[in-house]
Amino acid sequence: MTVTRREFIGIGAATAAGLTLHRPARAEILERSGDRVGDFAGPPVVVASANGIRGVARAYDMITKQNADTLDAIIAGVNIEELDPDDQAVGLGGLPNEEGVVELDASCMHGPTKRAGAVAALQDIATPSNVAKAVMDYTDHILLVGPGAKKFALEMGFKEQNLLTEKSRQDWLRWKACLNPNDNWLDNPGTPPPADKVAYDDPLHVKFTTGTINMNAVNSRGDISSVTTTSGRAWKLPGRVGDSPLVGAGQYCDNTVGAAGSTGRGEANIKVCGAFLIVEFMRQGMTPEQACLRTIERVVALTEPRLLDRNGRPLFDLEFYALAKDGRFGAASAYEGGQFSVADASGARLVPMAFKYSRAQRPMMPEVSCRRA
Ligand code: GLY
Repeated sequence: MTVTRREFIGIGAATAAGLTLHRPARAEILERSGDRVGDFAGPPVVVASANGIRGVARAYDMITKQNADTLDAIIAGVNIEELDPDDQAVGLGGLPNEEGVVELDASCMHGPTKRAGAVAALQDIATPSNVAKAVMDYTDHILLVGPGAKKFALEMGFKEQNLLTEKSRQDWLRWKACLNPNDNWLDNPGTPPPADKVAYDDPLHVKFTTGTINMNAVNSRGDISSVTTTSGRAWKLPGRVGDSPLVGAGQYCDNTVGAAGSTGRGEANIKVCGAFLIVEFMRQGMTPEQACLRTIERVVALTEPRLLDRNGRPLFDLEFYALAKDGRFGAASAYEGGQFSVADASGARLVPMAFKYSRAQRPMMPEVSCRRA
């Protein structure tokens, strides 16, 4: 390892101040000196949230059979769900905000070129992941929001369309009708979804309230990319931005180490910069799974009491996914039972996630129902 004069002075100053160089600092110095951490490649692997199972298969094929760039491949992967009107978690058909308007968030990072792009609260464009990549490719910015993001997308040639499908409109109306027993709407709770499809913060049992796809890929050269796309929390306040479009929270990629991303309650993740933290934990030597679990612990530690049960366990869902440069992967959520998508030489499949609390420790969902049902 060669240490430049400037780094040498930096190390000397730290030592003189009685500080010991901790591991990240050392890793940074190694990296800057060209002796890169984890600088070797393994097999191609694509990792995503469970709802990305079709996408990981497509992305893996593109990487291994067409020699596609990792970011192009995973964006093509998440496009499957963004363009599927039956998927209410992302893109076309995503559940709308409290005014019935679909607002989409996405971000991406391209490891080899060290670039990033993102859009938030984007309306009327079905594939925010592609718009995020266009921000990355064509501008000197990283994040465009709201009307500015849409104007940019239209200028780039993206097609404007109504993203609110009939099914999502009906779900939104049912939620709206159940809000207040004293307003002019008659409550109509509809049929509650199966218990395992209801999130803890789901008001009125109207489907899930968060749904997102995170996808990460590494190729045989060790080049890595990450992308996250979402329609965010259903019934959110207009203009609400979750973790997905925030580089370092919803996804993060460092070509010397690996990539990570999240799904679930974005407000909980933003406070810990989860994707960045996972990559930093991997840089320090943790496995992808250990890094995800440690980050779940950090989330719990930073959660305000109103969102914890009496045992200090979270009343919401949050999942993390991680992929190391050498092809190792892992994922974790607070509670047992989650799965994530993997595609590698063994095919595309769902794999159980690590967890912090067992199924039995999962608190009961707060009982909320239509007040006039
Ligand atoms: N994780 C997606 C969101 O909170 O919007």
